[in-house]
Amino acid sequence: MEGATGVMRKVASYISMVDDGELDLDRLLEKPKMNIERQRSFDERSFGELSIKIRPFDGFENMYSAGGARSGFDTPLSSATGRNSTEPHPMIAEAWDALRRSLVYLRGQPVGTIAAVDHAAEEVLNYDQVFLRDFVPSALAFLMNGEPEIVKNFLLKTLLLQGWEKRVDRFQLGQGVMPASFKILHDPLRQVDTVVADFGESAIGRVAPVDSGFWWIILLRAYTKSTGDLSLADSPECQKGMRLILNLCLSEGFETFPTLLCADGCSMIDRRMGVYGYPIEIQALFFMALRCALIMIKCDAEGKDIVERIVKRLHALSYHMRSYFWLDFQQLNDIYRYKTEEYSHTAVNKFNVIPHSIPEWVFDFMPTRGGYFVGNVSPARMDFRWFALGNCVAILCSLATPEQSAAIMDLIEARWEELVGEMPLKITYPALEGHEWMIVTGYDPKNTRWSYHNGGSWPVLLWLLTAACIKTGRPQIARQAIELAESRLVKDSWPEYYDGKLGRFIGKQARKFQTWSIAGYLVAKMMLEDPSHLGMISLEEDKTMKPILKRSTSWTR
Ligand code: GLC
Repeated sequence: MEGATGVMRKVASYISMVDDGELDLDRLLEKPKMNIERQRSFDERSFGELSIKIRPFDGFENMYSAGGARSGFDTPLSSATGRNSTEPHPMIAEAWDALRRSLVYLRGQPVGTIAAVDHAAEEVLNYDQVFLRDFVPSALAFLMNGEPEIVKNFLLKTLLLQGWEKRVDRFQLGQGVMPASFKILHDPLRQVDTVVADFGESAIGRVAPVDSGFWWIILLRAYTKSTGDLSLADSPECQKGMRLILNLCLSEGFETFPTLLCADGCSMIDRRMGVYGYPIEIQALFFMALRCALIMIKCDAEGKDIVERIVKRLHALSYHMRSYFWLDFQQLNDIYRYKTEEYSHTAVNKFNVIPHSIPEWVFDFMPTRGGYFVGNVSPARMDFRWFALGNCVAILCSLATPEQSAAIMDLIEARWEELVGEMPLKITYPALEGHEWMIVTGYDPKNTRWSYHNGGSWPVLLWLLTAACIKTGRPQIARQAIELAESRLVKDSWPEYYDGKLGRFIGKQARKFQTWSIAGYLVAKMMLEDPSHLGMISLEEDKTMKPILKRSTSWTR
């Protein structure tokens, strides 16, 4: 958990209710309008109405989701507030109660859920805050249960926070940065609520959360898809919010790769773990956020340029990821036989990966059938570790081709003991140990081998695994994983993570009643029961569009 001081500095990240940017909040806070027709046509409209000029490219086709390509996962309209068709299961009712206990209110309105409601914990640290990434499974649970208001409130509240001036010492952060977390302080005497946010200036290592903005965009699309309420995404405030987030990632620089260069600790793994560079988690979320934004950003005077940049980036990013991050038996064998020191355009070993750097464990780990996106690729450096979140998100947003998606599931099945063991799901595999742990983590006592981010098992990942299973047509894998979780989660009071090679032990410093462990379980259950829910968090591969695309300037919605 980051933010060791426990108390967040209020420097620039401080705002009181009085100046809490009333702007058009009232207008936007009107109850979401449910509109089945518009909801159905949401994705189709966004892609289908584009006028696209297609140019063949490397035989690399079927990329961006267009209307006809969807799998039929239309999210049903959630009409009755509080409807919960899965209520009979005692564990589910308990989970809902626990989830509701984590709700945070601003001026009497629910705006998020805190990270953990663990009264037994000695130190609260910053688990009493609403983390943007942690709220995603909560939001999905509420959407699936027909309670979209809290999600809308959250999206609007965080949008206001984005507008704050953010600083680390004397350095000002980019305008579009979304906070890692925020907290509401109630002053009963003065009768005011104060919002405090952390954009990285309180976090351990002072790293900005690159994933927050991406999750925000992904959630905005999930909300729109689920409710059919287009007015939120269409509002000038949300349009601007999306543009600001994407401007941060699409600006030109010295890059030779379409992937996003990141510091260690900028995402769910928010401590030093050797994921700096081009981590798979961020690349997959980046791809998904770009695709969601492409559906929602208006192609008007302000949006046109960014839409073009998104399309170009999606094209380059998918090519790069599918080609260079992908590892299967064949690819591993090729790398094993690589020549080094190759120059010029004819180089096969483009990043000069030295075969000797392939760790021993990969040769045993790689099944004959199956594959995955590796953790990182940069000059002379391939991080061969498996990361669950990036691989599941790659399936959900169709960054992985259908063949690659199937291969990832094959790998999970073939390496069940290593990746699932007794508690789904290992955040990364394998753990860093000994000298490598010292060098890579900087002797991090929280990230010792098979603990926390270093090979720990995180129940929250269950919802991502379940979604990926449903999308690839393998719900039975999800069922097995959920059964494992059900045998322990309530008994152990919903821990944040488990430790050990098989994930048998409640994590050394794991919180209990960790909200996203609870919400992740609920989302997994609801999706299995009604797979149409998948539509709000999944994007189908496009069968009609080919890479270089152009939107007609006359395109209006
Ligand atoms: C830890 C996790 C991070 C999470 C936070 C709150 O810091 O590493 O991903 O957002 O706890 O649960």
